[in-house]
Amino acid sequence: MKFFLDTANLNEIKEVKKLGILDGVTTNPSLISKESLFTENEIMNHYISICNILEEGEDISAEVIGDSYQKIIEEGEKLSLLNSKIVVKVPMTKEGIKAIHFFSKKNIDTNCTLVFSVTQAILAAKVGAKYVSPFVGRLDDISYNGLNLIKEIKNIYDNYRFKTKILAASIRTPLHIIECSKIGVDAVTSPVGVILSLFNHPMTKIGLDKFMKDYKSKIKL
Ligand code: E4P
Repeated sequence: MKFFLDTANLNEIKEVKKLGILDGVTTNPSLISKESLFTENEIMNHYISICNILEEGEDISAEVIGDSYQKIIEEGEKLSLLNSKIVVKVPMTKEGIKAIHFFSKKNIDTNCTLVFSVTQAILAAKVGAKYVSPFVGRLDDISYNGLNLIKEIKNIYDNYRFKTKILAASIRTPLHIIECSKIGVDAVTSPVGVILSLFNHPMTKIGLDKFMKDYKSKIKL
């Protein structure tokens, strides 16, 4: 299962990259707005900086802002020309699906975002999105079971051997990651805090403290 970091923060990306467990990055307009970027030029340069941290085979989803087919196409083409690691992230709308279809024919990778239903996931796969991003946490927020949606999409994609990869998004807890891995999703994207929490277990800390205490009580360093 691939681990994507849901952030536009360069320090966070560098921190997780150093751990050797990073497969890519996802951003969205809200995350970009946190980074003190004020012009389109600054945002484009920021995407290039993220690409420079990543290695070949890793990618970063950069979301379009335009809502019409024409605007999405223009923006997406511009983003994809910035760097081969850029995946054009397109919201799940009629205009967005039309644009993803266009990008697929041009071999431009896309991530269909803001997916909250099985029908939306089927549409994304039919037009050849590289990734579909169903939002687990935001469904949980409104008392729907986000993980059930992931299961249903996985089942349907397997039935039809759709090539679109499931990138479970809006991941808020380590349990979301465990359940997604049981379902067999291709990737999860989560904030740095959730990724770092995967390392923790109280018994590891207690065990390590005892090993060191015993060792130091006898052996002079
Ligand atoms: C997905 O690509 C989004 O950037 C993200 O996962 C949304 O997460 P949130 O619901 O925690 O904002």
